[in-house]
Amino acid sequence: MTAPKKLFIKTYGCQMNVYDSERMTEVLGGQGYVETSSPDDADMILLNTCHIREKAAEKVYSELGRFRKLKADKPDLTIGVAGCVAQAEGAEIMRRQPLVDLVVGPQSYHRLPELEAKARTGQKVIDTDFPEEDKFETLKSRPRAARGPTAFLTVQEGCDKFCAFCVVPYTRGTEVSRPVDRILAEARDLVDRGVREITLLGQNVNAYHGAGPDGDCSLAGLIAGLDKVDGLERIRYTTSHPNDMQDDLIAAHGECAKLMPYLHLPVQSGSNRILKRMNRSHTAESYLRLIERIRAARPDILISGDFITGFPEETDADFQATMDLIEEVKYGTAYSFKYSTRPGTPAAERPQVPEDVSSERLQRLQALITRQQHAVQDAMVGREVGVLFEKPGRQPGQMVGKSDHLHAVHVSDPTAQPGQIARVRILSSGTNSLAGKLID
Ligand code: SAH
Ligand code: SF4
Ligand code: F3S
Repeated sequence: MTAPKKLFIKTYGCQMNVYDSERMTEVLGGQGYVETSSPDDADMILLNTCHIREKAAEKVYSELGRFRKLKADKPDLTIGVAGCVAQAEGAEIMRRQPLVDLVVGPQSYHRLPELEAKARTGQKVIDTDFPEEDKFETLKSRPRAARGPTAFLTVQEGCDKFCAFCVVPYTRGTEVSRPVDRILAEARDLVDRGVREITLLGQNVNAYHGAGPDGDCSLAGLIAGLDKVDGLERIRYTTSHPNDMQDDLIAAHGECAKLMPYLHLPVQSGSNRILKRMNRSHTAESYLRLIERIRAARPDILISGDFITGFPEETDADFQATMDLIEEVKYGTAYSFKYSTRPGTPAAERPQVPEDVSSERLQRLQALITRQQHAVQDAMVGREVGVLFEKPGRQPGQMVGKSDHLHAVHVSDPTAQPGQIARVRILSSGTNSLAGKLID
């Protein structure tokens, strides 16, 4: 028997890239590849890349440069670039870094077996098509591999919103939803492999409108279907756009016990002037009203968000409006970024805010979010929460998992097992996690 070939895959960017990396590993498994955690003994290196900000994209080139010696020592090593940089830059990647043998976009990676075989013959291979055939249809012949009690499942891909700063509509293409029966089949497959929590993924997941048994099905309809899957205990979804938060989905947060009380709902800015220039098509007021309605349906829901500071033409007053909105919402956590100019997007052509101004605003915003995060965490102390344990913690005898509200929780208890959902009393709140003890 020949020894298996080794694949080293490194993932950048969002959860969908994590999902895609798992699927790429599974598809290459059919070609005799097994995963390795080090590039040193790999026969194939794949970087699954992100194009969202300049820094993310540039990281890829510095990482590739590090493989020069490996490639010199092992000329038949295949080096591939997948993901959103592959889609955005295509052949340019090989011009900038001739070490690269293979470039494959997010919509064509199901073709990796043929692409890899071609690359092995010494040809340079590029596939950044948006093919007619559905990648998920090809992928379904490759079983999902068990990777623990939680899993991502892509249900919707692409974006038609064209926010003025964002590359995603160009790298992932237009919005497409997978049919309900395929998603349910993949979910059951995951549950059979020990998964107890599924996070439904989409660039605009709440715009989901897949073909269902009775016609078009909304995300709430899909969640109702998943609610009936025996053995699946927890459902989450990300990322949502405020404009697609329909009544049935809000109601589901009050009605579906498996739907976890956590919602990532990016707003980007609290200034209506900036939101308009961002092409976000919601206002600060409409966002706040929405949060109110969601909290009416599920009072303990934890809200998280995304923010950009220093978007072109953002004034001090605009930034203050963002800080005011944050004060009002009281976030459980949030992701915030300095605006990064992305060539080809409308905002790239506009008057830019100086770097030091964006940085200073980002620092102030992050300090406020951190205060809110700690206030929310501190309020959990003394409360009883559900925790799905995932793996042993750093200390001996420790087990870590996530609470219903997605807080990292650790307990020191030899009886706690990965995959177990337990009731835990929270004892203390740390920087980014909570400590608790099992309730008998
Ligand atoms: N589809 C998701 C987000 C995708 S990108 C949504 O609409 O919410 C994730 C986050 O990256 C965005 O919410 C935004 O805050 C940030 N982002 C996108 N483009 C950016 C840019 N050019 N500069 C800085 N941050 C950006
Ligand atoms: Fe990007 Fe806006 Fe689409 Fe989100 S909604 S992926 S920020 S264009
Ligand atoms: Fe990055 Fe592409 Fe995701 S640009 S954030 S990897 S969709």
